[in-house]
Amino acid sequence: VTADLPVRLRDLVGPAGVVTAPDQQASYLVDWRGAYRGRAAAVVRPGSTAEVAAVLRLCAAEGIAVVPQGGNTGLCGGSVPDGSGTQVVLSTDRLRAIRGVDRANRTMTVEAGVVLADAQAAARDAGLLFPLSLGSEGSATIGGNVATNAGGTAVLRYGTMRALTLGLEVVLPDGRIWPGLRGLRKDNTGYDLTGLFVGSEGTLGVVTAAVLRLFPAIRRRATAWVGLPDVAAAVALIDLLQDRVGDRLSAFELMSRESVRTVLDHVPGTRDPLPGQHAWFALVELGDTAAGEPLDDVLAATLDDALDADLVSDAVLATSPAQAAALWRLREGVSEAQNAEGPSLKHDVTVPISCLPEFVVRTGAALADALPGVRLVTYGHVGDGNLHYNLGPPRGSDGGELVARADELSAIVYDSVASFAGSISAEHGLGRAKAAAAARSLDPVELDLMRRLKAALDPAGLMNPGAVLADGQGRSG
Ligand code: FAD
Ligand code: MLT
Ligand code: ZN
Repeated sequence: VTADLPVRLRDLVGPAGVVTAPDQQASYLVDWRGAYRGRAAAVVRPGSTAEVAAVLRLCAAEGIAVVPQGGNTGLCGGSVPDGSGTQVVLSTDRLRAIRGVDRANRTMTVEAGVVLADAQAAARDAGLLFPLSLGSEGSATIGGNVATNAGGTAVLRYGTMRALTLGLEVVLPDGRIWPGLRGLRKDNTGYDLTGLFVGSEGTLGVVTAAVLRLFPAIRRRATAWVGLPDVAAAVALIDLLQDRVGDRLSAFELMSRESVRTVLDHVPGTRDPLPGQHAWFALVELGDTAAGEPLDDVLAATLDDALDADLVSDAVLATSPAQAAALWRLREGVSEAQNAEGPSLKHDVTVPISCLPEFVVRTGAALADALPGVRLVTYGHVGDGNLHYNLGPPRGSDGGELVARADELSAIVYDSVASFAGSISAEHGLGRAKAAAAARSLDPVELDLMRRLKAALDPAGLMNPGAVLADGQGRSG
């Protein structure tokens, strides 16, 4: 790295756009969980697409690796540099403009650094809905959501970020700008480049803006907290709800008893909404865009039938928005609560919804054999087959053995996922944490195609090396 890099970057983006002081760099160099820490030659904060392009041109000319960063809430270590001190962190935190809302086209064009909650608010101000919803939405950015193909709690109704993204503006590793901000619902002019950049985790270029799909606003909601005997009952309840209410089912989140316990222990102000010891819980939400049948009645009647059929052990309906928010706090507090508990092994897996019950039984048994007392903090968006299958140390242990045996324990989870034809990364991406595991689980043809794409777009391997492809290398021939 050239010693005058910060000066040359300052020439491109101005003094406010380069962070060199160690105390000011600190928050850019560690991930949300504190699991990945790195060093950087500079942290650069371009204020426009043209400035992003200038930075990438300079880095390409000097052979300097670039790590794009949005809200730095990613859970796979993809947004922080390595320990070499030679990489540049390119933060999008000055790319914050909402470029426009097209009400008739039901789209919104926003820059990459716009925080998800601000994008939701802009849609709301226009009387519409941008449905992506994550526990991290107060910090995560649209660019990060695109780059990770974020999922969250509304996927069963609206799809992942890929389904919500109609067009992109991307700066390529050589500094060229691809102006693909088309707001078209139909566009068959060749390969789907937008789809390619969604989920590319900063390894193919820097997303600078996106055209997002908007939906009718939700006018009425009904929310319930449900105790369930097992995962089979949860899957049967999703089926029943979908038959009864169709796409008005807007969320179905599952939590094991251990997950709820973790939140109740660590998140201030939370309380158990149901008496009794239930093995599993579901947070169910219906949403309607228009007036019609009262949704509370529909939900209550469906849950009554589920109680009669022994699918549900107990249930409570929220009677105010404040009560609904308290139920959501129980669900969205798990990540924070698990962080507070110390070391854990995070897995973000998906199997066909029909296979979830057997997956949970089989995998739990294999893990209990391998590490007796292992705590299964299992929760997730089961309405789309996605479980956060996290492991905590046995009670009374400091987590040393869990961490030391991480590869072996994760292999048990991933072998089980493979036996159900599932995926080892449902929504968080691969980053650095899961790149090696993905290389083992992907089909060799798939992996080869990915390497060729990487080589075609980033032949020098300068964009976020080590993320997605463990060795950071493409293959051109
Ligand atoms: P960052 O963390 O900054 O970056 C993530 C990756 O994207 C990195 O590889 C980075 O290099 C790349 N990147 C970022 N911006 C750009 C850009 N403009 N161009 C190119 N590459 C870029 N995720 C879910 O999917 N569903 C959830 O329900 C969910 N809940 C969460 C709850 C909590 C409490 C937390 C902490 C995280 C959660 N996440 C969830 C993970 C995370 O919030 C998402 O992955 C989010 O999309 C990351 O956005 P970000 O702006 O923070 O990206
Ligand atoms: C969630 O669904 O809560 C998230 O994806 C975050 C996590 O698993 O930690
Ligand atoms: Zn999730």
